[in-house]
Amino acid sequence: MKAVALTQYLPISDPESLFDIDLPQPSPRGRDLLVRVEAVSVNPVDTKVRAPKATVEPTPKVLGYDAAGIVEAVGDGVMRFKPGDTVYYAGDITRPGSNAEFQLVDERIVGHRPRTLSVAEAAALPLTTITAWEALFTRLGISRGGSHRGQSILIIGGAGGVGSIAIQLAKLAGLVVITTASRPQSQAWVMALGADHVVDYSEAMIEEMARLGFREVDFIANFNNTDAYWGVMSELIRPQGSIVGIAGNRDPLDLNVLKNKSATFVWEFMFTRSMYQTADMADQGNLLDEVAALIDAKKLRTTLGQTLSPINAANLRQAHAQVESGRTIGKLVLVGWG
Ligand SMILES: NC(=O)c1ccc[n+]([C@@H]2O[C@H](COP(=O)([O-])OP(=O)(O)OC[C@H]3O[C@@H](n4cnc5c(N)ncnc54)[C@H](OP(=O)(O)O)[C@@H]3O)[C@@H](O)[C@H]2O)c1
Repeated sequence: MKAVALTQYLPISDPESLFDIDLPQPSPRGRDLLVRVEAVSVNPVDTKVRAPKATVEPTPKVLGYDAAGIVEAVGDGVMRFKPGDTVYYAGDITRPGSNAEFQLVDERIVGHRPRTLSVAEAAALPLTTITAWEALFTRLGISRGGSHRGQSILIIGGAGGVGSIAIQLAKLAGLVVITTASRPQSQAWVMALGADHVVDYSEAMIEEMARLGFREVDFIANFNNTDAYWGVMSELIRPQGSIVGIAGNRDPLDLNVLKNKSATFVWEFMFTRSMYQTADMADQGNLLDEVAALIDAKKLRTTLGQTLSPINAANLRQAHAQVESGRTIGKLVLVGWG
């Protein structure tokens, strides 16, 4: 099967950083599906795993943590899928990724693809949607039934992959959404997704928020740099409010700044459930099914921003370079094997 892989961890400008290769097609056992991959998206996690270092892999390593495709074959323990089903999923960071014509993935973290989306539009969604859903509904405990209706959330990094779906989920829950966006095109993008207010993070955030009438907010979802926003978040969170972070800190964080407010800080890592095979791991497959139904009911929309074709090393290197720039709006998807 065709695949794109690495053995060395090199700058993305190096043609050897990701290369085309033929690999043996795997076969499914137990609860695994064998999926024929039709489209993949690129996330910052791909570039973080690929970040330059001295390690050399003894065998080619395949990245890719978002896919849409068709079930080709199933293991003997599979209950939810059959060959021919159309699926979308983020997969498991401890296993070979989706940048290959065929991939094995545990059925519990796979969803049935939305019927009304193209394969590229579907591939844009899984990793960021699982992250945003778990961040808002599981970690921050925001009610999907509307009991937090009218409360406020500050979403930092609104135009990125995670922010683009989080804005929509927060609006579905009835929240007032204030989000960051620094450029005219990202500001237009977040407003089109339903944000109520936009703040430019390159200006003084606390003054910008006050100018909009928000001296404090009930929730903060930080989808950007945890260290850089720690002070601003501790100022803006209301007493007894809750903050979620998804990007690991580089320096120690001073938790004391949240003490007088009895504010909560919680992490979200979307690979936790597959990495530790948690008892509730099937919740990710279920939430992807639920999101597919919300998409088909026109209550959510895809976050696809740009498509490249085909899926090969040259296009994946271009996509990695763009994601590394930190300027992607929505999601960048590669479709077809050429
Ligand atoms: N823990 C997890 O499970 C998990 C899951 C997914 C992602 N992540 C991490 O979360 C982060 C975001 O992921 P993503 O996929 O949303 O990234 P992304 O799509 O690459 O985000 C790009 C967006 O970030 C915005 N941005 C750039 N600099 C910013 C700043 N200083 N402050 C606020 N916004 C800024 C840009 O918009 P403007 O400059 O136009 O405003 C741009 O549109 C990454 O570090 C990623 O590794 C973690």
